[in-house]
This record gives sequence, C-alpha cells and structure tokens, in this order.
Amino acid sequence: MSEHKVYKLSPVEVSEAWKDRAFIDNETYLKLYAESIEDPDTFWGREAQRIDWIKPFTRVKNTTFAYPDVSIKWFEDGTLNVSANCVDRHLATRGDQTAIIWEPDDPETPAQYITYRELHENVCRLANVLKANGVKRGDRVTIYLPMIPAAAYAMLACARIGAIHSIVFGGFSPDSLAGRVDDCKSAVIITADEGRRGGRSVPLKANADAAANKSGHVEKILVVRHTGGDVPFDPSRDVWLDEAMAAVDADCRPEEMNAEDPLFILYTSGSTGAPKGVVHCTGGYLVYASMTHQHVFDYHEGDVYWCTADVGWVTGHSYIVYGPLANGAISLMFEGVPNYPDASRFWQVVDKHNVNIFYTAPTAIRALMGAGEEYVKTTSRKSLRLLGSVGEPINPEAWEWYYHVIGEMRCPIVDTWWQTETGGILITPLPGATTLKPGSATRPFFGVQPALVDADGKTIEGEGAGNLVILDAWPSMMRTVYGDHKRFVDTYFSAYKGKYFTGDGCRRDADDFYWITGRVDDVINVSGHRMGTAEVESALVAHPKVSEAAAVGFPHDIKGQGIYCYVTLMSGEHEMDALKKELRDWVRNEIGPIAAPDHIQFAPGLPKTRSGKIMRRILRKIAEDEFGNLGDTSTLADPSVVDHLIENRQNRQ
Ligand code: WTA
Repeated sequence: MSEHKVYKLSPVEVSEAWKDRAFIDNETYLKLYAESIEDPDTFWGREAQRIDWIKPFTRVKNTTFAYPDVSIKWFEDGTLNVSANCVDRHLATRGDQTAIIWEPDDPETPAQYITYRELHENVCRLANVLKANGVKRGDRVTIYLPMIPAAAYAMLACARIGAIHSIVFGGFSPDSLAGRVDDCKSAVIITADEGRRGGRSVPLKANADAAANKSGHVEKILVVRHTGGDVPFDPSRDVWLDEAMAAVDADCRPEEMNAEDPLFILYTSGSTGAPKGVVHCTGGYLVYASMTHQHVFDYHEGDVYWCTADVGWVTGHSYIVYGPLANGAISLMFEGVPNYPDASRFWQVVDKHNVNIFYTAPTAIRALMGAGEEYVKTTSRKSLRLLGSVGEPINPEAWEWYYHVIGEMRCPIVDTWWQTETGGILITPLPGATTLKPGSATRPFFGVQPALVDADGKTIEGEGAGNLVILDAWPSMMRTVYGDHKRFVDTYFSAYKGKYFTGDGCRRDADDFYWITGRVDDVINVSGHRMGTAEVESALVAHPKVSEAAAVGFPHDIKGQGIYCYVTLMSGEHEMDALKKELRDWVRNEIGPIAAPDHIQFAPGLPKTRSGKIMRRILRKIAEDEFGNLGDTSTLADPSVVDHLIENRQNRQ
C-alpha cells in the first residue's frame, strides 16, 4: 500500500477520441451541473423522461434534510413499473438483442445469451410463480442466489408484481441469512441447489434450509436447479422453479407502482448494531441508475458492458441489472472469480465476449497485479474502451497498472465513489469531460452537492480535508431503514444537522476535485465489502470461551483493509493457537467467510477509559504496527495493558 510513501501520478487529459465520442464534454458537464443544482425541478423533470411512466408525475422534488423531519420524495405522484422499463419497453426495438450474457464459473461450460424477449418470458413466468405461491404487492422476497441469470429474473419478477426484494449475498452464513429474513419478515426465499465459485460448490439450498429452520417466517423456498447437485428437498415447503415456471403463463401484467413505492431492501453494515435494511424506491432510483450508467460508462447502443460485482451488493443491483437493462444494454454476468482457472480469466472473458466497458474493484486489480503481467499479456483486450473502479479508494500502484497494463493507456478509468445508501454513483469522472487524476473520484455527478465539514460540523471551504457530507437530495438516495425510520434519521442526519453524512473522510484539491480517503467510522472495508466492527465483535462474544472482543481494520495489501481482533478469554481458558483457529472458523460460520479475522490477538485486558469505553484509536495503531505514536494514553484506566498489547502484536512488518 502507498500510505508510507508519496506517490502521485500525473493527471490524464481527456483524449481527442473521447471528446468526439462521449455524450458529455467538459463544457456540457459544467452547464448541466449548474442547472442540476440551481433548478433541480427542470433538470430532473427532463431527465426522468428517459424512462416510461404510466401516469406522469406533476411534482419533481419534495425533499428535506432538516433534522429530525428528514423526508425524501421524488416524482411522487407518478406511476411506473421497473420491470416494464427494463424489459417490456425494449421488446419492439431490440427483442432479439442480447440483454444478458452469462459466463459460467467453468470456462468449459457454454456461455448463455439471453435476449430481451427471453428475459421477458422468464421474468413473467417467475412473477407468476411468485403469485401462485402467495406473494403479493408489498411483500418481501429474499433472494439468495449465485451469479446466474435467474438472479436477474427474480429481481425483475419481484419488481413486476410490486414485491420488495431483499438480496442476501451467497457468501453469507445461514445465521446472517436468517437475521435478514426475520428483519423484513420475508415468507419466501428464492435460492439454488448450489452455487459454483472458483471450481467449488456453495451449499446454498442447505444454507437456506438452515436459515428457514432458524427463522419463524419462511413458508416457501423456491429452488433454481443449477448444478443439479443432490440437495435436501421438502415437498411441503420447497418448489423446483423450473417445473413451476413451465406450468404457469408466459405473460404477467406489470403492477402500476407509485414512484415512491419500495423497490428493494439491501442490508448493509454500519458503525453500530445489526446490519440495516436500506430501502430504495421505484422512480428516482431507476432514473438515476439509468442516467449514471449511460453517462459514467458512456454506454452506447450495442456496447458490451461488464460489471464484475455480485448482485448481492448494491453495485450488482444498480450496474448489472437495473441501470444497464433500463438502457437496453448488453450486460455481462459472471458466475466465477478473477483467478479461476487462473489469473487471466477476466481478460479471457473480455476477449471471448468482446467486452467494451469493464467495471471492477481495486481489490481484484491488486490481486491480479500480484499474480503478474504474464497472465494479462496472453490476452488481447483490444475491445476494451473504458475501465471502472468501485468499492474502496484505488491506490496509485493499482491505478497505474490498470491504466497501463490492462487498458494500454487507451482506456480512461472512471473511479466511481458511492454507497449502498446512495443507490447510484455520486462522485466520478465522466470519460469525455473530466481530466483523470489517479486516486481521485474527481467531481460530483449531476445534482450531487458534496461538502466537507470538520469534527464540529463547520464547513471547510476550498482546498482542505474533512468528513464528506452531501447537502441536498438526489433521486436514488435511500428513503429509510426498513422498519426503523428513526435509525435512518439518526444514522445519516444527526451528526451534522441538515446534511447527509457519508461516513467517509475526503480531501478536496485546488481544482475542487474530491479524493476519498476511507471510512472515518467503525466500518471496515474488506475487499470492497462493508463489515461493521460491532458485527464481528458480537459474533466473537457469542463464543462460550470469549468474554470480550474488539475488532478494528488495518491496511492489507490485497484486501485494502483486513480484520484484526483483540479477544479477552473467559477466566480459566487458555490462549492457544488452536483456539485462534476455532474463533476464526466461528466468525466465518456466524457471519460468512468475508468476515473471517486476519489476525486474532489474545488480550488479558483492553485499553479502556475510566468510564469503560474501549479506546479503538490505540487498538487501530497497534494493529497497523504503528505503535510508536499512540497519542494521549493518560485517560486510560490501566495504561499497562497497552505494553502487553504491543508486545504481543500480530501484524509485525
Ligand atoms: C467505499 C459500494 C473510495 C466508501 C458502492 C464508501 C469508495 C463505501 C469508492 C460504500 C471509491 C466506494 N473510492 N472509496 N471509488 N467506492 N467506496 O455500501 O468508503 O458497499 O462509503 O457501496 O465504500 O460501500 P458500499
């Protein structure tokens, strides 16, 4: 990582080729941006025409960030259906065009090409199966699927009948799945027999069974036959989707939904407590996902676009399914992982399907960079035109490698900053308009007003660094935390009253470009996946031998951040390496593999203030192996615990 050395790359100007090709040049950006801020009603009223409305809206923006009366409404009296927008409206013009290219985990298995017409039939049939199993408008449906086309069918089928989907990433454990099912009281889970990743199978149906047994809500499990593996099946509760879909009608009328009706819930980690159900709604979300997909990636008709995210994360929602399909795009969906069968897989897939636009996470770039250039050089990548990055700050080394080795200096890199809560990309270059500064997410998208505040909430003007806030609403922002509006208001609008607090630190340079520096709260970003320290800690203390635990992040070469845990054992328990492994496996089982701690340090005592608050700052420094500068420790109840922690630190460099 680059923390310890100054490493600055030169800006990359917009090339002549891009000036000719792109929808938006710099002048247009500046003009439209100004309009979007000064007259949002005109700007968004016009932009909203990019999607089809059943009943047109008469009011564009009705929002307030005023604490505690935060309320966000866009296009509030308009009606539409998201599935009709992503599927039906393309049938007349591009019914036989590919909507989804599916590339399987195993390169020997044939790829699938699903046309918009086939997408329509599958979505309709799945929607009819949901109805036949009692799902009604407003009901919550949990989707726990691998990266297969059925995941898109399931999302769009829910949207078609007005059900609210909640996708749970296939890497989450049965307990995590059950927690999310219970929180939104979902009676139906859609899963598959098994998933496949990197040649290994993932026991999705078995996990769904375990979650259903734990939860009190599950009445039906709809199962996609994917690997054909032999899995448990309870005919009184379980339904094979292929059989059920064959038995229902191939058409299903889309429900007329209000712009502000919920489209989906997506659980994400925060500083405290259990994951929150982030609620996104129908109209504003689709307008913004569609617009950003077109302009950030400069998507032109016929381009092959590939976002490598999983549909279990927000990136997969907005930029594999909703944004691209709303635009009638060709969206590639990849079941596998970057390094299987070897580290050239991504580039082989690019060549195989002539991918023009490629969007991935810095962690993948760093991992492939580590594997070596020879895996890249065996591929052509000539089809590539644009590269994207998302999920965490991209370090200059990774940026440079991506730009030079992957894109051969031909492809601009769009470093897109956004969050589950924001629904779509908020800060990003536009390829025909923005000078690229490696490591900077650059400038706000239309309608987005970033600002920096200091710890006291005072606004920082001009060049400087602080906490990143957003001053006014944009169409795709979350509307509430499912079932807990107060938590929504308190989490995002109470730290700096009247402003949306992102949880990120940020620097603004003399050109008004933004440089995201990472989370300033207790969220760890592991390989671009958000993990709350509180979640890891509560998993650890649930172990019978653990009395207390503290988890912090530390810089990790590949993952961006790793998880470092300090564990105090129950008296009488012995600090053994075998127990460390047991605890690691325990967290893996409780939450999922992405939460497995990289380091566990046994600590007879944790550094606490006299009022009993754990001083995480100190724990972070020791985890970073930066204990020379611990700052003020005079408020500690027992300063001697720090020496013991330093002596026994695990991450020695
Ligand atoms: C981080 C993912 C720097 C940030 C879309 C944010 C980034 C969190 C970038 C949200 C970027 C995302 N540069 N940091 N381009 N993109 N982040 O909810 O800390 O999974 O708050 O959404 O990822 O993660 P989430």
